[in-house]
Amino acid sequence: MSLLSIDTLKVRYGAVEAVRGISLNVEEGELVALLGANGAGKSSSLNAVIGLVPVDDGHVEFNGQDISHVATEMLVRQGITLAPEGRRIFAGLSVLENLRLGAYGRRDKANISSTYDRVFDLFPILKDRQQQLAGTLSGGQQQMLAIGRALMCEPRMLLLDEPSLGLAPQIVETIFELVATLRRQGITILLVEQNVAMSLDVIDRGYVMSGGRIIDSGTASELKSSHIVEQAYMGTH
Ligand SMILES: Nc1ncnc2c1ncn2[C@@H]1O[C@H](COP(=O)(O)OP(=O)(O)OP(=O)(O)O)[C@@H](O)[C@H]1O
Ligand SMILES: [Mg+2]
Repeated sequence: MSLLSIDTLKVRYGAVEAVRGISLNVEEGELVALLGANGAGKSSSLNAVIGLVPVDDGHVEFNGQDISHVATEMLVRQGITLAPEGRRIFAGLSVLENLRLGAYGRRDKANISSTYDRVFDLFPILKDRQQQLAGTLSGGQQQMLAIGRALMCEPRMLLLDEPSLGLAPQIVETIFELVATLRRQGITILLVEQNVAMSLDVIDRGYVMSGGRIIDSGTASELKSSHIVEQAYMGTH
């Protein structure tokens, strides 16, 4: 049984059919990417999985349970969470307050302090700056905070929407290394990215989306030699 299984998922905004029946699966422990250009429907797919936009048709299963119409806060408790596109941190709150919000709804309050330790081990810069207002962090640090906040609920599965967007190349590399580290630590990850070249170096498998559909899929090495990937994306980054 796959940890996450998406079956002919459709998402629409009024007349706009953003996702036109995609199917994909992610096994426990895998790092899988959903790749594709602007407007392909990647964020809509992730947001539908996590309940931020409604599933118009099709099904989403997590850990064997149908979560197609389950509310976001319930999903967090079941162990799946999203670090959204554009970071969405609270600029006027401190680093520590942002992290605390990530642990909101956790029932095992006694274990939260060890999660702070875990997040601070991954991101020592956040430990140094825990009292600083999040809005005054650099873009890369804000992305680390967004991921750190998602980790505060100790997820079994993490959905990551364009973590490298708008960051300097050196920071992009750091973020991809971090994603690889999280996978090694056993977190199952569905990564949405436009940076196809960097993604192919860290993922196990990937799916390529265009116009709301999946147009290609395979292991990282299969995608590296795929004509569709080569024509559409390689050399553009
Ligand atoms: N709230 C919305 N209302 C109407 N249309 C939307 C909305 N959000 C997204 N869309 C449209 O749905 C399609 C898919 O958008 P989506 O944001 O899912 O793509 P994406 O692959 O994440 O793109 P990007 O790489 O730019 O983030 C686009 O045509 C977009 O304009
Ligand atoms: Mg998007």
